[in-house]
Amino acid sequence: MFKQNTKKANIVIFWGPNSDKLLKDPLAYCALTFCKENGLTAPADFGLTKGKYGKPFFANLPEVHFSISHSGDFWLCAFGENPLGVDIEKWRVADYSAIARRFFHPEECKAVASGSISTFFNIWTAKESYVKYHGKGLSLPLESFSVVNDGILVSSVCGLQLQSFEFVPGYSAHICSSTLGSIKMHSLV
Ligand SMILES: CC(C)(COP(=O)(O)OP(=O)(O)OC[C@H]1O[C@@H](n2cnc3c(N)ncnc32)[C@H](O)[C@@H]1OP(=O)(O)O)[C@@H](O)C(=O)NCCC(=O)NCCS
Repeated sequence: MFKQNTKKANIVIFWGPNSDKLLKDPLAYCALTFCKENGLTAPADFGLTKGKYGKPFFANLPEVHFSISHSGDFWLCAFGENPLGVDIEKWRVADYSAIARRFFHPEECKAVASGSISTFFNIWTAKESYVKYHGKGLSLPLESFSVVNDGILVSSVCGLQLQSFEFVPGYSAHICSSTLGSIKMHSLV
């Protein structure tokens, strides 16, 4: 069980370079740090396992939930006491309207058509964080739900909360969970 300490962030995000130069096993390092900070006893082996569609989880520490994303130069992992999904995307030039027409809900396509590069990647990361929360990969059709309402990004979708968070300039970042409070960022550099 987690320590009942309201001063603790309920989501902790570790991030660092998208390479193995920094740490041999960044996930294990981050999980150990998260356990220490939350008064949890870390198992000798976390029992890293992948679900049917590839979502990783710790078989030997089921009360700790996490989600991983990498894009551009960075790797990131979010930990919490409830299931969650996280996504970061580096902004890059593309035919946004064409991608939106292929993957996005019509409401989202409209926002992309009148928006900027950040509009596109904010929608993208919001959608991906939702998909990664569920852990069913692209078997959950991307056009079946909208993270935009009246041209504005929503803060909840289908009973889940969505939150953007400050990352590195030129990147979009979103997290999705049943409840979201404060987010504590831990840099690995
Ligand atoms: C694989 C997928 C989960 C995310 O892929 P992505 O955004 O390209 O890549 P990210 O780096 O953000 O995420 C990869 C991580 O997600 C995790 N992951 C893999 N399958 C997952 C699943 N079914 N559910 C949740 N997390 C998953 C893994 O930890 C993986 O990292 P690892 O291999 O280092 O452990 C999946 O949603 C996907 O293929 N998306 C396609 C992207 C797309 O077409 N988007 C259209 C616009 S929304």
